[in-house]
Amino acid sequence: MLRSLFITFLLNLLIRPSFSRLLTDPSQLLKEGYDFVIVGAGNAGNVIANRLASVPAFTVLVIEAGVKLFVSDAGIVSTQIPFIAPNILLNTSLTWDYVTVPQEGLNSRILTYQRGKLLGGSSSINFLIFTRGSRDDFDRWANVTGDSIWEWDAMFPFALKARFTTPVDNHNTSQEIVPNFHNTKGPLLTTVNGFPSSIDGKLVATTQADSEEFPFNPDTNSGNPIGMSWIQSTSGGGSRSSSATAYLHPILSHPNLDVLVETQVTRLINIAEKGGKPDLREVEFAKNATSHRFTIRAKNEVILSAGAVNTPQLLLLSGVGPKSELAKFKIPLVVDSPGVGQNLQDHPLLAQQFLVNSNETLDDISRNATLAADVEEQWITSKTGPFVDVAGNLFSWVRVGSDIVNKSNDPSAGPTSAHVELFPNEFVSFSEAVPATGSFISVVNGLVSPASRGSITLNSSDPFDFPVIDPGFLKNPLDGRILIESVKLAQKMINTSPWDGFVIQPFGALANATTDAEILEFVRNTVTSFWHPTGTAKMGEQNDPMAVVDSKLFLKGVQGVRVIDTSIFPFIPAAHLQAPTYAVAERGASLIQETWAKA
Ligand SMILES: Cc1cc2nc3c(=O)[nH]c(=O)nc-3n(C[C@H](O)[C@H](O)[C@H](O)COP(=O)(O)OP(=O)(O)OC[C@H]3O[C@@H](n4cnc5c(N)ncnc54)[C@H](O)[C@@H]3O)c2cc1C
Ligand SMILES: *[C@@H]1O[C@H](CO)[C@@H](O)[C@H](O)[C@H]1NC(C)=O
Ligand SMILES: *[C@@H]1O[C@H](CO)[C@@H](O)[C@H](O)[C@H]1NC(C)=O
Ligand SMILES: *[C@@H]1O[C@H](CO)[C@@H](O)[C@H](O)[C@H]1NC(C)=O
Ligand SMILES: *[C@@H]1O[C@H](CO)[C@@H](O)[C@H](O)[C@H]1NC(C)=O
Ligand SMILES: *[C@@H]1O[C@H](CO)[C@@H](O)[C@H](O)[C@H]1NC(C)=O
Ligand SMILES: *[C@@H]1O[C@H](CO)[C@@H](O)[C@H](O)[C@H]1NC(C)=O
Ligand SMILES: *[C@@H]1O[C@H](CO)[C@@H](O)[C@H](O)[C@H]1NC(C)=O
Ligand SMILES: *[C@@H]1O[C@H](CO)[C@@H](O)[C@H](O)[C@H]1NC(C)=O
Ligand SMILES: *[C@@H]1O[C@H](CO)[C@@H](O)[C@H](O)[C@H]1NC(C)=O
Repeated sequence: MLRSLFITFLLNLLIRPSFSRLLTDPSQLLKEGYDFVIVGAGNAGNVIANRLASVPAFTVLVIEAGVKLFVSDAGIVSTQIPFIAPNILLNTSLTWDYVTVPQEGLNSRILTYQRGKLLGGSSSINFLIFTRGSRDDFDRWANVTGDSIWEWDAMFPFALKARFTTPVDNHNTSQEIVPNFHNTKGPLLTTVNGFPSSIDGKLVATTQADSEEFPFNPDTNSGNPIGMSWIQSTSGGGSRSSSATAYLHPILSHPNLDVLVETQVTRLINIAEKGGKPDLREVEFAKNATSHRFTIRAKNEVILSAGAVNTPQLLLLSGVGPKSELAKFKIPLVVDSPGVGQNLQDHPLLAQQFLVNSNETLDDISRNATLAADVEEQWITSKTGPFVDVAGNLFSWVRVGSDIVNKSNDPSAGPTSAHVELFPNEFVSFSEAVPATGSFISVVNGLVSPASRGSITLNSSDPFDFPVIDPGFLKNPLDGRILIESVKLAQKMINTSPWDGFVIQPFGALANATTDAEILEFVRNTVTSFWHPTGTAKMGEQNDPMAVVDSKLFLKGVQGVRVIDTSIFPFIPAAHLQAPTYAVAERGASLIQETWAKA
């Protein structure tokens, strides 16, 4: 066995040109196809590319719609500097510039809904926060799939494949993380804050002032995130670590990998004999809406890693989806799979701002271009200063009381899963700039165990048209109730004794919201997305008609296709999603290797 692998390896070296290439021209691909074709060089896709291309006998192609500039991020400050991550959202050449349909639960507002469109996908534009989710989140996945490989204990080794690094200011982290829950090796870099924030001390003191509501939790990534913890982020040495920098860049010299960028996959084509089980191992793609459509075949598997918006869109375009939905667009049916595009779950985000009595907030960086340039210069020359963090060094994960949720209506996975996240921060608003004067803090609230569900559907059969995105925010009234509680919890936090004399008053519309009805109106007028879509091609048991993939991530009803990205999450974890995405991708890559090691 070993020897035959070795011979294949030698033959590969002899007869194949060394081809690891970053290509923009589809005509340069290997004519005979590849063992594996991965759709999307995003958060999950690059992990799979790395693990498969590390097996010399495999040939691997990755096709990515976005731009190639950011393989190493070298010199591209906007994607490298943690602090200015939110600015990337303004650069439409790096994002899928999506919007939602009007959200009934949000007074019919339309929300922006960007995804990363570059190497690294959303891991190259996100806000770096690294949270693994809870034991109950994963145990619930195991329960609904009937497969123990998704339990927390079974997933933990995959979650551990990231390297904790010393923060740039070299401070002692013994009070901020528990080393047992971290690794000293692994491709992805993580750390804790590298620049102190003026409210860190108040937040730590809050855990003593109200230890019942805000207990100190020595490590948010232990499997039980409940409580106030120091935030971990995907950076090292002051710069962003993404799936492009950590997983793709190091393997670009591998001779068995091609990466085709600035090229959009338009559908998968059924190549099965008439009457046979559908086989979707032919991938169609194009440079743009009017250009030539190319195809390439995967000998072993196609892996869809286009994310929770584009993966269901591609499945629908390929004839895999609810029969009635496909008929609407005259797309020939390949598999009637009613769950495709359904079950969309996302986290509503709400920011509360407060005017504070302080001269240490970072508002001036947003108001004074000279200061901003100085801070950027400090980052460039020494990788220190305020730009090394996204801002906000601690956060609190809270379960609301039994007057709001109980066993019969609790949307969370269990006692280790929070209902809300409270994330104190600098001035954060998605609708207004920092006021010209005054010092501000915000508490960003996340509804991390939502009860509402939405959907991704097609608007036309043209793959270059945007899909219809409906996160269904606050469709279930329980979400509104929990968010009202969340607003009150944030105020409770900053009304504990350590904050005496600090907070002057709530800012903006919040100032006038006191009754539950007024707070709910504030919620409806200000909630936006945390950019966490999941669940649109969920995994589940074979006999669950709404499950799109099985527990080994194979697309049900066809041969040769797996889905590996946030769309397979059956329930959204009470967490920011990149750590679960990295863990699922590592788990998925090892499932693929298990399949093909046997072959
Ligand atoms: C603004 C923002 C902030 C966030 N902040 C955080 C945070 O602080 N912490 C956290 O944990 N999570 C955060 N997230 C969420 C997290 O980044 C995502 O949930 C996760 O990265 C999704 O991974 P994925 O592999 O499913 O998809 P992606 O990483 O989005 O990858 C999909 C890839 O497929 C490509 N693609 C799509 N369609 C096609 C096609 N047809 N053909 C070819 N290529 C295609 C895309 O261009 C992209 O590169 C944030 C997300 C955003 C957008
Ligand atoms: C936006 O991204 C592109 C890369 O596609 C880059 O060339 C450009 O400078 C960026 N624009 C801004 C304003 O950062
Ligand atoms: C597991 O799922 C069953 C139904 O599928 C449910 O009754 C049970 O409560 C679940 N258990 C957990 C721990 O989620
Ligand atoms: C870090 O602090 C802890 C106590 O808080 C101490 O025991 C440990 O020695 C310190 N480590 C270093 C390297 O100073
Ligand atoms: C589409 O792609 C083709 C082939 O690369 C190119 O020649 C053409 O200019 C592109 N059209 C647009 C509108 O970008
Ligand atoms: C900042 O505030 C502190 C305490 O309120 C005060 O002692 C200090 O002088 C102030 N510094 C500046 C530069 O205003
Ligand atoms: C802007 O910042 C610079 C550099 O710190 C400082 O010298 C200048 O006084 C600031 N300008 C204003 C208007 O505060
Ligand atoms: C659970 O909460 C819901 C909503 O608040 C309420 O209607 C229901 O009666 C509660 N059930 C129990 C068993 O307390
Ligand atoms: C769907 O297409 C129609 C017609 O082109 C357009 O007006 C509408 O804005 C599209 N909707 C979405 C959500 O893209
Ligand atoms: C608060 O309400 C008062 C009275 O209705 C109004 O004048 C004021 O503008 C409101 N403030 C905000 C920030 O909405």
